[in-house]
Amino acid sequence: MSSRLFDLSDDVAVVIGGTGALGGGMAQALAEAGAKVAILGRNAERGEERVRAIEAAGGKGLFVSADAMSCESLAAARDAIQSKLGTISVLVNAAGGNKPDATLIPGADFCKLSRTAWNEVFDLNLVGGVLLPSQVFGEAMLAAEKGSIINIASMSGMIPLSRVVAYSAAKAAVINLTMFLAREWATRGIRVNAISPGFFPADQNRKLLFNEDGSYSVRGQQIIGHTPMARFGKAEELSGAVVWLASQRAASFVTGQNIVVDGGFSAVTI
Ligand SMILES: NC(=O)c1ccc[n+]([C@@H]2O[C@H](COP(=O)([O-])OP(=O)(O)OC[C@H]3O[C@@H](n4cnc5c(N)ncnc54)[C@H](O)[C@@H]3O)[C@@H](O)[C@H]2O)c1
Repeated sequence: MSSRLFDLSDDVAVVIGGTGALGGGMAQALAEAGAKVAILGRNAERGEERVRAIEAAGGKGLFVSADAMSCESLAAARDAIQSKLGTISVLVNAAGGNKPDATLIPGADFCKLSRTAWNEVFDLNLVGGVLLPSQVFGEAMLAAEKGSIINIASMSGMIPLSRVVAYSAAKAAVINLTMFLAREWATRGIRVNAISPGFFPADQNRKLLFNEDGSYSVRGQQIIGHTPMARFGKAEELSGAVVWLASQRAASFVTGQNIVVDGGFSAVTI
């Protein structure tokens, strides 16, 4: 077995949403494996903070301000990264999340679900989350005939969880688009895979999982009760999956797959 199987020192990785909890953790892992890492997002303070953490650990990081919902913004970021760090070979699409208005709280009527909120969730997770970055960065990868695209889907895209209806449907579409692109670009040097996390505390879901005093909410308890490992995930527990999928040596024949990291949640029915 090659000792360089998980060595990314020839790679330039872009993590969109690297300003967030899971994207930030994955950016850190890619940098620790040797990749030069560009963090793309709208929050410069959090992006720069992550770059400092990467560099404190001996890695190379760069924050580039960009809006995943705008092709122009993504194209400007792509060109800036390629001129500063070199040819981009890894793209992690980690911008995404849910919106309260697109969630059915107990007793709410599905027939009254807001179309605007539904569209916003699809736009964020599917359009800005995967479609536009794959077009903009995919163009550069196709030109180089080399690349690994890793879309952050969700376990709720496989099993429709209660309440988060638009989010689950959008993430199901993310998994489907991942498989489509995998086939489309399989002979062009680009692998396209997804990672589906289970429940990982982050800003976007903390209120759902915990009470103000830090104890588990009722929903949090239900989730823990259904998770064979009886706990939530930690961001660093996605590191192995992202480094493996990023590595052309380790995952050269892996494309169109959805890797689930959920403490066993999706493996059990009761
Ligand atoms: N935390 C979980 O339990 C969990 C579970 C399954 C899937 N996910 C998915 O993982 C991904 C990361 O989520 P997270 O939990 O770290 O949430 P997060 O809110 O901490 O991170 C999401 C990041 O995306 C950024 N972002 C949002 N819109 C953007 C835009 N238009 N342009 C640029 N950046 C934008 C946000 O600013 C934020 O930094 C999301 O796709 C989410 O749906 C999370």
